[in-house]
Amino acid sequence: MSLETPFTDALGLDVPIVQAPIGSATCPALAAAVADAGALGMLAVTWRDEAATRAVVAETRRRTDGVFGVNVVIDPDAKTVPTETHVEACLDEGVDVFSFSFGDAAPYVDRIHAEGGVVLQSVGSAAAAKRAVDAGVDVVVAQGWEAGGHVQGDVATLPLVPRVVDAVPETPVVAAGGIADGRGIAAALALDADGAWLGTRFLATEEADVHRLYRRRVVEADETETVHSTLFDEGWPDVPHRVLENETVEAWEAAGRPDSDRPGAGEVVAETEDGTPVRRYEDSLAVPGMTGAVEDLPLYAGQSAGGVEDVEPADEVVTTLAAETDEALTNARR
Ligand SMILES: Cc1cc2nc3c(=O)[nH]c(=O)nc-3n(C[C@H](O)[C@H](O)[C@H](O)COP(=O)(O)O)c2cc1C
Repeated sequence: MSLETPFTDALGLDVPIVQAPIGSATCPALAAAVADAGALGMLAVTWRDEAATRAVVAETRRRTDGVFGVNVVIDPDAKTVPTETHVEACLDEGVDVFSFSFGDAAPYVDRIHAEGGVVLQSVGSAAAAKRAVDAGVDVVVAQGWEAGGHVQGDVATLPLVPRVVDAVPETPVVAAGGIADGRGIAAALALDADGAWLGTRFLATEEADVHRLYRRRVVEADETETVHSTLFDEGWPDVPHRVLENETVEAWEAAGRPDSDRPGAGEVVAETEDGTPVRRYEDSLAVPGMTGAVEDLPLYAGQSAGGVEDVEPADEVVTTLAAETDEALTNARR
């Protein structure tokens, strides 16, 4: 069965699957493996400076002839590099797929279209989808609140996707949040989405740039073991995010979920490879080379972690997801 959709047609993909931008866990090896397998690979560049952004784009291009894009979080509180700098550097490096989240893509749409690029915008409501399309966005990503990492809204994927599809009937919609396998992708397609955007699933790949303890926690977690809060607010305040339960979360919950005077506030819990201290409530992702109590850091993951059972090469994940989607669609028809 063909898995072709308006989204795969617009981007030149073989399958309607996206390796979601998962912050510093994205890297050329991951995006290129996904792109080689016919899905969309993504590089999250928000926390990379201009030189690092150019370098990861160039290296990904060296590694694959497939389709990949970049994601930029627009919220100025989340970043130090202006969005214009990221956009111009990526255009200069030949990127033609741009995804924006936590802010309005409108100021960048004309510039990217002028270079022949495609613009994706993440939203958490039908109204936000409508605004994005009115601003010229080409593809809408509807992110439900079961998603891992920072979350755009508080509506779950199942009610959100059909509302977004109905709000922007002429625009391809990609479903994000809570999708761990091909049954989830088939469900998204049955909701009239044109693709699926998986973050947590791709954390558990050999290529993802995450600390082995974090990866292990993702694989071991049940769907009941995530928490949605604004707890890890140092670096990016006041934006809800979903993480796995850990000692930091448990101590805060035991203290009655206080807004201030949180247990262990200011304490250094880990160090990066270059010796930079990481404090307990920082928004830092647990990456390879970190030492200390790495499992106390924000272990960003969605409820979909319950359905992630193995660490596999990313290209195999894509192939398996596509086969499972096909099977689930056939089974649904029976
Ligand atoms: C570790 C991690 C980091 C993330 N970083 C970003 C990011 O940099 N930009 C962004 O727009 N979304 C980010 N997200 C959200 C994902 O793009 C995606 O919407 C989410 O993972 C989908 O839900 P799922 O985890 O259930 O698949 C991140 C998610 C995770 C788990």
